[in-house]
Amino acid sequence: MIEVRHLEKTFPGTRGLLGHDAIKAVNDVSFHIPDGGAVSFIGESGCGKTTIGRILAGLETYTAGEVVMDGQNLAQLPRRQRAVLLRRVQLIQQDPYQALNPARTIEQALTDPLKVIAKERGADKAWIMHRLHEVLELVGLDPDAVIYKYPHMLSGGQRQRIVIARALTVDPSVLVADEAVSMIDVSLRLGVLKLLRDLRERFKISVLFITHDVASARYVGDDGQMFVIYKGRIVEHGLTDEVILHPQHPYTQALLSAVPVLKGLEEPGPDRYIPLKEFGHGQPPEHACAFAPRCPYAQPLCGQEKPELVGTAHQYACHYPKERHVVAVPLSE
Ligand SMILES: Nc1ncnc2c1ncn2[C@@H]1O[C@H](COP(=O)(O)OP(=O)(O)OP(=O)(O)O)[C@@H](O)[C@H]1O
Ligand SMILES: [Mg+2]
Repeated sequence: MIEVRHLEKTFPGTRGLLGHDAIKAVNDVSFHIPDGGAVSFIGESGCGKTTIGRILAGLETYTAGEVVMDGQNLAQLPRRQRAVLLRRVQLIQQDPYQALNPARTIEQALTDPLKVIAKERGADKAWIMHRLHEVLELVGLDPDAVIYKYPHMLSGGQRQRIVIARALTVDPSVLVADEAVSMIDVSLRLGVLKLLRDLRERFKISVLFITHDVASARYVGDDGQMFVIYKGRIVEHGLTDEVILHPQHPYTQALLSAVPVLKGLEEPGPDRYIPLKEFGHGQPPEHACAFAPRCPYAQPLCGQEKPELVGTAHQYACHYPKERHVVAVPLSE
């Protein structure tokens, strides 16, 4: 449903878009989210994941590239039509507490968007109440038990379910879940992940899952695509399990080597912790591999030539992917 081509986002620095301190938060990013599909983005803090999610939800502009929804290029649509399309992409953020007004009951929080839809459809109050109960049931909550409560009276898991229910009121095609379970108690996380998976299966709602946590990405969509982002660029992507079990890029290997246990994986990930050098600030040079300064396997070529994504279904941007690592043991070990 969504096709993103060569997306770019530059945040202006103090001297404007071309200033030396401008940040290219998203750089030449292309991907596709199929109907009912799962796409996950992993990468460390500041790599541009949230910016991509916000662009898709229409909350952030982009500086270059194309976003095509249902065959229509967003940039070429009149504002009104664009808004209608963008409403079908709903963002679920990290902190459900912040997303809900503490002074409004769950009923009030959910009927606000429902009133807008009812007006558009010429539906009445009975329809609003019916739909309110329906979306709450869909997210696994007992409507009568939560409807008159305030957000602080619910658990973190219940609050995130409310946020998801509110997103469902507008019949979305895509949910962008940005670290959507990272603030929820571990014991409640699995339930919310399972809910996202159910929504995919039952209603063909696509999920763009943004996370630091590889294991939860796998739970939402082991049949989906995983994208590994480094400093605004895709450095590796492929089927989620393929990337997790056979990571080719040293950065992906390092991310995975920091994951203690990947439940349900027969094969272990990389068997040894790959240490990365300190996160460098500032913009990497355009002509070199952005990861080279931190890469334990970097060779002179890496500082001279930027690797492009190569491969077919499983792609990676590295001159020395796993099978070609010249140094068997990381230099810094
Ligand atoms: N409104 C903004 N103005 C200026 N720079 C921004 C803005 N929003 C994000 N950035 C910068 O863009 C880069 C990408 O930020 P983004 O929030 O997308 O990263 P992220 O991958 O979501 O990180 P995290 O895992 O910490 O949530 C960062 O360098 C950030 O400082
Ligand atoms: Mg973020």
